Amino acid sequence: MNKLTITCPDDWHLHLRDGEVLPDLVSHTARQFSRALVMPNLKPPVTTVEQATQYQHRIKEAAQQAGYPDFVPLMTLYLTDKTAPSEIDLAVEQGLVGVKLYPAGATTNSDAGVTHIEHCDSTLARMAELGLALLVHGEVTHQSIDLFDREAFFIDEVLDPLRKRHPRLKVVFEHITTKQAVDYVEQSSALGQGQIAATITAHHLLYNRNAIFQGGIRPHYYCLPVLKREVHRQALLAAATGGSNRFFLGTDSAPHAKHLKEHTCGCAGCFTAAQAIELYAQAFDSVGKIQQLESFASFNGADFYGLPRNQGQITIEKKPQKIPANYVMGKELLVPLNAEESLEWSFLG
Ligand code: DOR
Ligand code: ZN
Repeated sequence: MNKLTITCPDDWHLHLRDGEVLPDLVSHTARQFSRALVMPNLKPPVTTVEQATQYQHRIKEAAQQAGYPDFVPLMTLYLTDKTAPSEIDLAVEQGLVGVKLYPAGATTNSDAGVTHIEHCDSTLARMAELGLALLVHGEVTHQSIDLFDREAFFIDEVLDPLRKRHPRLKVVFEHITTKQAVDYVEQSSALGQGQIAATITAHHLLYNRNAIFQGGIRPHYYCLPVLKREVHRQALLAAATGGSNRFFLGTDSAPHAKHLKEHTCGCAGCFTAAQAIELYAQAFDSVGKIQQLESFASFNGADFYGLPRNQGQITIEKKPQKIPANYVMGKELLVPLNAEESLEWSFLG
C-alpha cells in the first residue's frame, strides 16, 4: 500500500504558544488537522474562561492569516488550587472542551498548577456532573522519585484515588509513556470503571530513551514525560495500533526556540507538528498496522469527547521526505524532531 486516504485527523494535545509566533505555529497544524485541542500553559496560564475564549479568538485570527480559515481550535482551562466550580459552569457554557491538570512543577509553565489535588475536589465534582473532561499531565513531582518512574507513581498516588473519589469524571491521561499507563487505561475500560482514555505522541511511539543520548546529548529528543525504555515503547505501539477506541492521537508538539533547547538547561518539548501525521504513519507502518491509523487519528478522540467526526479527507503516501533543519518562529528558529533526517511517508494534502 503506497497511498492512504483517511478522514481528516484531529490533534487532541497541542501547544501553540501566543503572540507573534502564533501564525507560524498554527499553520503547521492547520495544514494537516481539522481541529486541535490547545493546551493552556501560557505565561501567564489560561486560568479563566474569558482568557481561553480570547486566546481562541487570537488563534482563529492567526489561522485565517496563515490561510486556514476553517481550522478549529478547541480550548482547555488551566486548573489551579483556586479554580471555582462556577468557572466550570462558564467553561461548559462557552464550549470549552476540557480542564488541564498540571501538578505544580511537573513541566513547562506548571508553576501555577495544582499543589494538592484534594483542593480541587468541589471543582472536579462539578466537572463530573457536567461531563467536562479532566486532561491529566500524569507525573508526580517529588524529587525523591526517579524521573523515569514519575508516571507509574502518579497512577497509584494520584490518578486512581482521584477517579475513585469521582467515578463519573471523564479523564484523558495525556501523552502516556509507560506500560503501566497502557495497562491502567485498558484494565479500567475492561472493568467498566469510568470513562478514561489516553493520548499518545508520535515521538513516544517512535523512540525510546536511547534517542536522547545517541552519540552525545540530543536536546531535541527531550520532553516531559521523558522517553522511556523500549519495553514501554512497545506497549504504547501495541495500544495505539491495537484497535482500542481508548487511545488516540495527541502530538504534544511543544515548540521552543532553538537557542533555548540547545542550552545548558534546555527546555522540555519536541516539535513534531510539521510532520505529525507522517511520523504517526511511520510508527503504525513499522508494525504493519497502517490501516489502524484512521481510527486512532480521526475517530477515537472525537468519539470520546462527544464531538462529531470530521467530514473531509487527507492523503499520505509512502514516499521519502527530508525534514528541514529548522523553521521560522517569529524572530526565532525552531528545530523539528528528526531535523535533516529522512521520513518514509509524505503528506499530500
Ligand atoms: O515536553 C513538554 N513540553 N511537556 C509538557 O508537558 C509541556 C510541553 C511544553 O509546553 O513545552
Ligand atoms: Zn503537553
